[in-house]
Amino acid sequence: MEQQKWIVTVVLAFIVAMLPFTFRILESHQVQHLYMGELTNMIFGKLGGWASSNHHDLSIDKAASKVIGPNLTACHPSYGRPDLLVYCCPAGFETPGPFVDFQFPDPKSPLRVRRPAHLLDENYIAKYNKALSIMKSLPYDDPRNFVRQANLHCLFCTGAYEQQNSDTPLNIHRTWLFFPWHRMMIYFHERIIGSLVGDDTFALPVWTWDIPEGMMIPDFYVNRSLTFFHSERDFSHFPPQMADLNYVSDRNLSPEDQLDTNLAFMYSQMVSGARKTELFMGCTYKANEGYCNAPGTVESAPHNTLHTWIGSNLNPGREDMGKFYSAAKDPIFYAHHSNIDRLWEVWREIHNHQLDIKDPDWLDSFCLFYDENLKLVKIKVRDVLDITKLGYSYEEVDRPWLEKRPSPSVPPKFARQILKLKENEKQFQLSGNHVSSSDFGSQGRALDTSLTIKVNRSKDHSIKREKEEEETIVVHGIEVKGDAYVKFDVYVNLIDETIISPKFREFAGTFAHIPGGGEMMKRKINLKLGVSELLKDLEADQDESIWVTLLPRTTSCSNVTIEGIQIEYIK
Ligand code: C2O
Repeated sequence: MEQQKWIVTVVLAFIVAMLPFTFRILESHQVQHLYMGELTNMIFGKLGGWASSNHHDLSIDKAASKVIGPNLTACHPSYGRPDLLVYCCPAGFETPGPFVDFQFPDPKSPLRVRRPAHLLDENYIAKYNKALSIMKSLPYDDPRNFVRQANLHCLFCTGAYEQQNSDTPLNIHRTWLFFPWHRMMIYFHERIIGSLVGDDTFALPVWTWDIPEGMMIPDFYVNRSLTFFHSERDFSHFPPQMADLNYVSDRNLSPEDQLDTNLAFMYSQMVSGARKTELFMGCTYKANEGYCNAPGTVESAPHNTLHTWIGSNLNPGREDMGKFYSAAKDPIFYAHHSNIDRLWEVWREIHNHQLDIKDPDWLDSFCLFYDENLKLVKIKVRDVLDITKLGYSYEEVDRPWLEKRPSPSVPPKFARQILKLKENEKQFQLSGNHVSSSDFGSQGRALDTSLTIKVNRSKDHSIKREKEEEETIVVHGIEVKGDAYVKFDVYVNLIDETIISPKFREFAGTFAHIPGGGEMMKRKINLKLGVSELLKDLEADQDESIWVTLLPRTTSCSNVTIEGIQIEYIK
């Protein structure tokens, strides 16, 4: 008891000392709806949590459950950027009140058909516009309020909540919760919008950036007289500018070239690079199992890259879309995420649902959301795996990228001769089976310039390896210092660093990283790229080793270190 008092005193003294600093940050326009009462709550809420944590939740055997879910009573300030404390917690969070378990909507209710945004007519746009205005005008203590909706994203991506079965903050990016969590969020959002205008057929628009007709920002999002217009965007990317799905900086490709590049890129991210569950879904994230920080292909890009592409070039983190704490304040977030959600379905379909995750810890992971009737609902991942049962569907959209399998930039035989020559001339520094920290130095290797590494493949790669195994390049222990957007690309058997594009088969994938979220988000990241098909196309599948080039695409890569690179076989 004595000790507790002592801790409380020290913490209080610290808070008092920090108050001027805190207020300076809280004054920022990006931090909304914080007033004195909430500040007191947040300080004492957190303190109470710390002081009493020994005798909290004794009924839950914390170590036993590996299911991930938020502890709604433990909301606290978090970092949107390292220099920006944000507070996204709802008022009164310490007593979230009773919740109900999720129930599927009545199967007799009409199906909500999500249609491509560029096909939507004036009636639809008018209705959605009206609903959004209503949403924006609701008071902040109504969970249907637009900022409250947007803050849901802030809460779960900056670690504002602790997990229920462990004391670590919960994070929904770069893990296998990415797809189901965002599905839950926009599911409730869609139903709230529908109910605000009394339309139970209302469905979110889909920004289908993966087909030629959808590669520009849909018109109604840039119409200044509508609520979809948002000022915190990069205006140079407004139509007729075509989206760059592998965006890093403006490259001014011709529209034809951009289109081809986008489609080839989609092929890598959806098809050849995503032939195993983990490669598409992201890493296995369980309570009390430590570390999981590896995004799936589509999450890295086009998901992250388009967040960055939309966000304003005038803001430090390309807010709003460029940072997760602010992203959902831009109405286009929801159309972007319907497409992400649709692509999850497309991927499942391509694999006849054979690659769906069956692990109960994933199926039982959960979150809580307010529904259109203001009820707090506990919803599990297993509840969101059948979209028909959820009462919505996607209008059929072409998949032109399925046919866009890239081809080598130079004939593979020729490339190999050049690579051998370069090897003899000792143009590459590193090689080995598992090029690891020992070769990279104890601090890891900085990516201030491009790095080519010869990686040996397993001796039995051609004979004993089972057909179904996916050969995977693993860049491990990626550490991002600082806050800038970071992107590097990975190529295999590349002979000329000036001839690069996802249009060429040498492109193996990308690391496109949006930092943010304070300490816990700084954990090291692994990048896994499936390359079996690529190696076949480069005629390298019988070779003993391959050359892997890491190509920095942002100057911020000088703040990135990697610990090693190796080849793994995923069953
Ligand atoms: Cu949670 Cu598009 O990000």
